[in-house]
Amino acid sequence: MPSGPAVWSGMAADHPGGYDPAALERLVCFEDFHQAAREVLTESAYDYYRSGALREWTLAENERAWQRWCFVRRSLVDVSAIDTSTTVVGQPVDFPVLIAPTAFHRLATPDGEVATARAAASLGTVMVNSTLSTVALEEVAATGAPRWFQLYVFTDRGLTRELVERAVAAGFTALVPTVDAPTIGIRYADQRNRFVLPDGMELANVAESLGASGGSGSGLRAFSAQFDQTLTWKDLEWLSGLTSLPLIPKGVITAADARRAVDAGARGVVVSNHGGRQLDGDPATADALGAVVDAVGGDIDVLVDGGIRSGTDVVKAVAMGATAVLVGRAVLWALAAGGQAGVERMLGLLRDEVADTLRQLGVPRVGDLTPDVVRPVGH
Ligand code: LAC
Repeated sequence: MPSGPAVWSGMAADHPGGYDPAALERLVCFEDFHQAAREVLTESAYDYYRSGALREWTLAENERAWQRWCFVRRSLVDVSAIDTSTTVVGQPVDFPVLIAPTAFHRLATPDGEVATARAAASLGTVMVNSTLSTVALEEVAATGAPRWFQLYVFTDRGLTRELVERAVAAGFTALVPTVDAPTIGIRYADQRNRFVLPDGMELANVAESLGASGGSGSGLRAFSAQFDQTLTWKDLEWLSGLTSLPLIPKGVITAADARRAVDAGARGVVVSNHGGRQLDGDPATADALGAVVDAVGGDIDVLVDGGIRSGTDVVKAVAMGATAVLVGRAVLWALAAGGQAGVERMLGLLRDEVADTLRQLGVPRVGDLTPDVVRPVGH
């Protein structure tokens, strides 16, 4: 694994910044982007992006669970015109895939979150910008990309309020408070690597450095001592009082919590276990989705993330009642492999796979997907 300047076999010699379009075109699926990213990232950055909590059962289970569902195909339907577009909490998108909030994009590419936002805009979807961004939220906003803001609530409520006010002022159109992270989970690789940001890279939104070097264990986990562990659903009402932006809590995994979210005024929920990075032993999101849809799907939009690796996973999720999915690691691998162009290519491939899956399935419009086009394998 390189620790000096990042270079992979498909990268132009003058990297960083110079990505070889011909090499990018040879990347055709999640695993290709993953492999290319692995070649370019430092060991510490790669491990940080890839890891899950503890034994990584939930991380693996997220991927497996989509594979436990198969399609019930309809033959000889007119599929000459395919429509992948939809609307998510009032926001039109060209296909039902949004960019999940993930931290520290400058670990993957020099422009960091600006590259991600531009890719979202060019593919007609939303970027959910992380509080733990390495580019200030105002700079992300300046790209003009459709954008939501992921919020960590800090014990310093003044800082939290200021973040919300800045996001509102910068034209973010929804707030996505994370509800599955009282503290950052224990990830063995980050503990081993004593994960911190490299010199010159900052938490651009909160003007703090990420744990001093020389600490033991993950600097990010140490930093997360500033997350407010007293947070309850009541505080979502406090957040609603700060802004009229729709709240879309992320990290809901049960029907009971989804109902609490609705009662607290949420306009959507993201069924998520944080990419398997928090509670190892949380169920796969594909397994949790159905109960949440049954509980609140009639009232608000239900989104889902975790283990989405291809267009078939996207279509299965929407058939099961999700309005859309979010992808995290796929974006990080594509960002490392090719910056903005890499993310554009990856999202374009995913969009084409969604369209192809609809055509093969005999359901020409995303909006016409219903639960009866999927069933558990073996039944
Ligand atoms: C993580 C946080 C930052 O999972 O969302 O690393």
